[in-house]
Amino acid sequence: MAAIPQSPLASSGGCHKIRATLMKAAVCTRYGPPEVLQLQDVRDPVPGAKDVLIRIRATTVTPSDCYIRSAIPSARLAMRLMARLVIGFTRPRRPILGAVLAGEIEAIGRKVTRFRVGDAVWAFTTLRMGCYAQRTCVPATLKLLTPSPSNLSHDEAAAIPGGGLMALYFLGKANIESGQQVLVYGASGANGTTAVQLAKCLGAEVTAVCSTANVELVRSLGADKVLDYTKEHVSALGRYDVVIDAVGLRKTSPLKVASRNALTPAGTFISVDDSLPRFRRDDLIRLKELAEAGRLKPVIDRRYPLERIAEAHGYVEQGHKKGNVVITIAD
Ligand SMILES: NC(=O)c1ccc[n+]([C@@H]2O[C@H](COP(=O)([O-])OP(=O)(O)OC[C@H]3O[C@@H](n4cnc5c(N)ncnc54)[C@H](OP(=O)(O)O)[C@@H]3O)[C@@H](O)[C@H]2O)c1
Repeated sequence: MAAIPQSPLASSGGCHKIRATLMKAAVCTRYGPPEVLQLQDVRDPVPGAKDVLIRIRATTVTPSDCYIRSAIPSARLAMRLMARLVIGFTRPRRPILGAVLAGEIEAIGRKVTRFRVGDAVWAFTTLRMGCYAQRTCVPATLKLLTPSPSNLSHDEAAAIPGGGLMALYFLGKANIESGQQVLVYGASGANGTTAVQLAKCLGAEVTAVCSTANVELVRSLGADKVLDYTKEHVSALGRYDVVIDAVGLRKTSPLKVASRNALTPAGTFISVDDSLPRFRRDDLIRLKELAEAGRLKPVIDRRYPLERIAEAHGYVEQGHKKGNVVITIAD
């Protein structure tokens, strides 16, 4: 009989309540197409004295997850080698992918005082990943682990941290001030739908660029003006203090190219692909506050159960999702 894989995050001892059971997880044991993600029974992780065990109720599939699963076959060799040094040379070092979670604390280590069993939390686990599973175990001090917004379901909460942390980071780099003209290019993805809402929260006058199918969605998020990149001539562009490229450098159009020349003399063009973002716990807390104040709404395109995660990856990989694709994780 095949050995039952151990969760990559398992640690031992020190917890008030130790489970010795199995959980469902989507496991990625080699790089490849979405079908390499296999639903398996995996040993439950066991929290150490300073860890919390989280029952994950929802996660998301992001373009980054697809890059990791496929090891970016379309990238240049040097880039692929660098990526593999980080994520695992011949196969993913951490076979349970997924970096966003919403759920609740199921058990705590004996030295943990920051959380209690039953607390609703959300987290961004970065390269630790481990969120495509019913449970994960992380240090209670994990930087990007906080209580989740009290007014959102787990599915809704999961739809915020990925795009929210990215948008906060890149808008922060742009130092947006109230009254400034801001163009959000690619306003319909996870980053874009959040960037539009956050730029409005900062008091900017927001022009959003998306395709015909997403015009109404983007307008409903508060954009003052919406331009359709499939139809609009570049002469429709105004002058902008800040242009945020929310979809990355590979997705472009004549409107995006022209937007670089539509900046004011002191204007800034920032792409989400410009640098590796640095996230702070305060950013996650800010997202919670904005969500609870009703100023930041989750945008969910589709929901898939964990059992259909390969299908979700196939959809996200097409590059046309609206906001977020959420994975729900049942008992
Ligand atoms: N720096 C980093 O470390 C880092 C980390 C994570 C992500 N990223 C970047 O962030 C990107 C976006 O991620 P995401 O999840 O927000 O977006 P996404 O979901 O991948 O973007 C999909 C959206 O982009 C729109 N789109 C596709 N082609 C477009 C084009 N040519 N012009 C304008 N919009 C277009 C799609 O709608 P239509 O097709 O209908 O237009 C869809 O709504 C990633 O692909 C990656 O490049 C960077």
